Amino acid sequence: MSNEPSLDMSKIPKHIAIIMDGNGRWAKERNLPRALGHKAGVEAIRKIVKECDRLGVKYLTLYAFSTENWNRPIKEVDSLMKLLVEYLKKEVEELNVNDVVVNSIGNISKLPLICREELNNAYEKTKNNKGLILNLALNYGGRSEIVDAVKEISSDLINKKISKDQINEELISKYMYTSKMPDPDLIIRPSGELRLSNFLLWQGAYSELWFSDINWPDFHEKQLQSAIMDYQKRDRRFGKVK
Ligand code: FPP
Repeated sequence: MSNEPSLDMSKIPKHIAIIMDGNGRWAKERNLPRALGHKAGVEAIRKIVKECDRLGVKYLTLYAFSTENWNRPIKEVDSLMKLLVEYLKKEVEELNVNDVVVNSIGNISKLPLICREELNNAYEKTKNNKGLILNLALNYGGRSEIVDAVKEISSDLINKKISKDQINEELISKYMYTSKMPDPDLIIRPSGELRLSNFLLWQGAYSELWFSDINWPDFHEKQLQSAIMDYQKRDRRFGKVK
């Protein structure tokens, strides 16, 4: 795919995070079962990972399963877990060849064993790569991430590993699942919903937000490029005046 003329390659966001929403509605519009909406969502993942890699995005975080998604019918939860395993099994070789690191954030310990094994396998295979870092948010919730961080900070305080005076924003960031990455520059949500849904609450403090009406399975390279083009026009002041 050729570059859009107005995409400034020197101002590509370093970290893009996406709330992949609208799979169910995409399926409903076609009289298909919801599981097929998620399957189509995986195709969109393939395209967007490749495009982010091509554009030189360094981190791509995808909201694949939230802490609240356990409340969906068991059949749907199972189909999402199966899709995750299938995706990792099928894609890891190509991701590896493309120098992508497959990472995850969230409370992975609660995922089925097969998912943990495949995630671990993908990470071990790709951890030394130098290209795009693909961050799958699984059993992820922004509030529970903050709760986990507070627990760890308290225990490090009690064990005198840190002192109260050391607690500041920088230190708290180090206790987040995303400790080794920059905050997202751009958070994208397709499907017409205008909310964050517990995604990257700490890290998204100064992220630029981009919404679109189309459902995730229809989110292709062109939509990503539009989001980045809009991002490039934003005036990021981080609360300061210029
Ligand atoms: C939201 O759409 C989407 C999800 C809860 C799951 C996203 C998962 C995938 C795209 C596939 C599995 C993941 C990987 C990494 C292979 P929705 O079901 O809430 O849509 P709706 O709001 O239209 O019902």
